[in-house]
Amino acid sequence: TVVVLDYGSQYTQLIVRRVREKGYYAELLPWDASKEEVQNLNPVAIILSGGPASVFEKDAPFVPDYILELNIPILGICYGLQSLVHKFGGIVEKSPKREFGHAVLKVKDDPLFEGLPKEFDVWMSHSDRVEKLPEGFFVIGESENSPYAAIRNKDGTIYGVQFHPEVTHTSFGDKILENFVSKVASMEKNWKMSDFIEEKINEIRKVVGNDKVILGLSGGVDSSVVALLLDKAIGKNSIPIFVDTGLLRLNERQEVEENFRKLGIDIVVVDAKERFLNNLKGVEDPEEKRKIIGHTFIDVFYETSMKLLEKYGNIKYLAQGTLYPDIIESKVSERKAAAKIKTHHNVGGLPEKLPFKIIEPFRYLFKDEVRKIGKILGLPDEMINRHPFPGPGLAVRIIGEVTNEAIKILQHADHIFIEELKKNDLYDKVWQAFAVFLPIRSVGVMGDYRTYDNVIALRAVNSYDGMTADWSKLPHEFLNKVAKRIVNEVDGVNRVVYDITSKPPATIEWE
Ligand code: XMP
Repeated sequence: TVVVLDYGSQYTQLIVRRVREKGYYAELLPWDASKEEVQNLNPVAIILSGGPASVFEKDAPFVPDYILELNIPILGICYGLQSLVHKFGGIVEKSPKREFGHAVLKVKDDPLFEGLPKEFDVWMSHSDRVEKLPEGFFVIGESENSPYAAIRNKDGTIYGVQFHPEVTHTSFGDKILENFVSKVASMEKNWKMSDFIEEKINEIRKVVGNDKVILGLSGGVDSSVVALLLDKAIGKNSIPIFVDTGLLRLNERQEVEENFRKLGIDIVVVDAKERFLNNLKGVEDPEEKRKIIGHTFIDVFYETSMKLLEKYGNIKYLAQGTLYPDIIESKVSERKAAAKIKTHHNVGGLPEKLPFKIIEPFRYLFKDEVRKIGKILGLPDEMINRHPFPGPGLAVRIIGEVTNEAIKILQHADHIFIEELKKNDLYDKVWQAFAVFLPIRSVGVMGDYRTYDNVIALRAVNSYDGMTADWSKLPHEFLNKVAKRIVNEVDGVNRVVYDITSKPPATIEWE
């Protein structure tokens, strides 16, 4: 395993992904992970990520001694480089100029740069820089503002780069990471999706035996791929449960039913529309809505699984589509109390309430890896490339109280927006798009009549992971067409607006 130690950079997960994309297994641990945690992963190489701190600050994260005692190659990136230099007695100082963006890197002959040109573009993002190298280190790459942009020690076991090889703005960045892992650390390739699928299938069969597994199917990519994997592994002993909350998009339930019928997988569909709507009656606060939906979901799921348990007797497991970022997220938030903006843990508490053991086949995977598995297992493209959809569904896209009427209007308007995006080849170009129902009314004129109706807001964003987002610059002509269609076709709407705020300061969803 390539162990990546996290010093807090927003790019840390990318390092892990890039290394895996090249066919080498990598995992992420916090910088202050214990020696045992690191050793348990059989580390072959260590990468220290970037981070926001300065090495000379009090309480700055540092390079633990045991890392050096492992006697395996180390690559420090940005802050990782600086903390290595600091550790070995070199000098790091505030740079006279903050370096952010492209820089041209000139490199020397070195295994790290094997097969690369002598000069190429790299991505810099730092305000401190190395001023003096420690004993035994020398320069293998420099840029105009960073004379020590890439360094190594004499034995070639410790490397550091000031730029970010993990971001796509660095030309050959992935190649540099691959060189480090394969040339410097001499690691053999050990990560291939098809092998992973084989392994997981065998593992699930071994763990589950002849017992049964239930699974909450949302229709999203992750749970759909889990359902597919379980089907391959244990066939009819896997029971996916789909809860119709009534807060889904137009025809969504039918589409999920249809898709899984085509895949030859039986699913249990629970119609809980009334129950959700009743519980949401009169509730306007977004977090309150999330709570109610979460609890209602757990209740419905619990009751359904108890009925199934009565029927079959041998249900022993609950499968979940938990992904690696979720695991990292919850580990991070265990360590530090982040300001609570929104609760995204829709069904937290579900596993505790159910008398089943948990199976999480994707707990070490990233979303695009799960997409790859879906593709290999034959999940239709339209399901693989579906935009993210929040657990509380349309409830957080209807501002204020959720009513039947608002749901109907929103479903219809949203459907038109998405349909047009697809028709105009724009759906795959935005990260997420949807309509929002605003419970205010404005005056309009249609034909010779005055109208006094609701407003629909359209939202489309480009993002990498939903943490930050830019509003999508959709063509005016396109927006014009969507707005016209919505006002003409959706009863109760006479005005359409387009949301042009990015995240931050806004969030993607309106609630
Ligand atoms: P925000 O609105 O926080 O959204 O900028 C970021 C991403 O998360 C989704 N989202 C949620 N997902 N439960 C979820 O499962 C939630 O309560 C929730 N709130 C927002 C949102 O759709 C976007 O993709």
